[in-house]
Amino acid sequence: MTALSPLCSPRNRLLLAALSFTLTRLSSTLPRHQDVPHIAKYFGTKTRYEEVNPHLLKDPFAVNRSVLRPPFGERCSPMHLTAVIRHGSRFPTVKNIQRIQRLSELVRVDGSSPTRPGGSEAGAREARGTPPTGGPDAALQQLLKRWEMWYTDDMDGRLVQKGRQDLSHLARRLSVLFPSLLSEQNAGRIRLQTSSKHRCVSSTQAFQDGLTEAWGSSAVPEYRHQVNDELMRFFEHCRGYVEGVEKNRTALQEVARFKHGEEMQRVRRKMADKLGVEYSKLTPDLVEAAFFLCSYELSIKSLHSPWCFLFDETDAKVLEYKSDLKQYWKRSHGHTINSLSSCPLFHHVFRTLDKAGRPRRSTDASPEPASILVGHAETLLPLLSLLGLYKDLEPPTADNYHSQHDRSFRSGRIVPYAANLLFVLFDCEGGQTDRQAGRQTGGPRLQMLINESPVRFPGLEEDAPLYRDVRALYRHLLDGCDHDRECEVRASGRQPNTEL
Ligand SMILES: *[C@@H]1O[C@H](CO)[C@@H](O)[C@H](O)[C@H]1NC(C)=O
Ligand SMILES: *[C@@H]1O[C@H](CO)[C@@H](O)[C@H](O)[C@H]1NC(C)=O
Repeated sequence: MTALSPLCSPRNRLLLAALSFTLTRLSSTLPRHQDVPHIAKYFGTKTRYEEVNPHLLKDPFAVNRSVLRPPFGERCSPMHLTAVIRHGSRFPTVKNIQRIQRLSELVRVDGSSPTRPGGSEAGAREARGTPPTGGPDAALQQLLKRWEMWYTDDMDGRLVQKGRQDLSHLARRLSVLFPSLLSEQNAGRIRLQTSSKHRCVSSTQAFQDGLTEAWGSSAVPEYRHQVNDELMRFFEHCRGYVEGVEKNRTALQEVARFKHGEEMQRVRRKMADKLGVEYSKLTPDLVEAAFFLCSYELSIKSLHSPWCFLFDETDAKVLEYKSDLKQYWKRSHGHTINSLSSCPLFHHVFRTLDKAGRPRRSTDASPEPASILVGHAETLLPLLSLLGLYKDLEPPTADNYHSQHDRSFRSGRIVPYAANLLFVLFDCEGGQTDRQAGRQTGGPRLQMLINESPVRFPGLEEDAPLYRDVRALYRHLLDGCDHDRECEVRASGRQPNTEL
């Protein structure tokens, strides 16, 4: 019952009755003892980190050291960590707060007729061959009408308490995974850079709080991060991207087409029927607002909101696809410039790794132990795309929803709140020269982890390949991927001749 406690004030006995009625009716389709909405893994970029790593629900500090996988015989130890991290759970932005406001008004004012809309609607449905959708749900309508709008414009995208935890817990887990790097002795040499957005700065502070907690230090941490938007918000500094994609309607036409396509219409119709509101008033944006509201109530308050009952798994998958389409065409493989806009960050990461892995005499200072870079989903997706990850054979479009069930590009898996991309550079002793092959087998190794799970570099067959093999893989980018050339010169956003 905790999940709905704000609704259960003593003056609302009636409501309680309505609620248990709803829950009883829904219990046939939902697993019991369910605090988490059954659709929680379809929230795209509004997915909780715990949906990707469910074991953290039991123990937020659980660390599995076997995710680090340098070859057994080479006696490798981590010598540097670069982490690109998304901010934690946050409030909706103003745009979504206003949509939520409109939705809750629509439901309160218009959703008054639990009678079915006229026969023409049913007739039209039959003609389209879609099955009836179950009709209005009086108990659910009652619940939603009583729902109190509590989001205010000033919350605009700020980090919530849960979001602070997302980052401080992540810091604590990483300090266990990399005790020699994220150690108290290294405190002054861990470099932290962040986007200027409030939610990112707060996340960076929370990360430092987490380290301080991990060290059992009672001192109030002195925050020592730098704001760097050119690095963490590169997408705003790339004119070719802004003009070619962000401000260009045709670049995102698949999203617009899907939004008004068959699958979305079906979700809309079901929801309009359940609410007893006119189909035409329930715009795709308002449908999405209800879905997001379900996600926000979960990620901010750990509530299983009644808004979630508007959607079954089939609906949720459609809405997930809508979000994924947007991320794909706006931030990922959809257009070459999307990934190329991240060249400054790409070069920064590799320069940092180069420096950390450079051979040194025993008298030299030890390398920078860690570089922590805090940004957005919009920071991570282009970089991951540039690295060649999550690229399916067929691009997702408005028309191929049904062939995309097994796509690897799922924003909820890739960039949930507190998503992280880790580069772990290992110093290895066991390398020898393989005379027959005529090449050196030793040297530093690099492993990549995404959301704390190992992910291989495309085309390389080890979890922690030699660093120089990774450099060879990305040679064309290391030698090119020039910000000025990619972002400034071109009139049009993408060039077919830029092969990546
Ligand atoms: C740790 O991770 C490995 C592989 O990443 C997995 O096989 C193993 O089951 C995990 N162990 C635990 C206790 O979660
Ligand atoms: C806008 O996008 C379309 C389709 O991707 C592209 O052909 C066109 O060149 C873009 N316009 C600009 C100004 O970049």
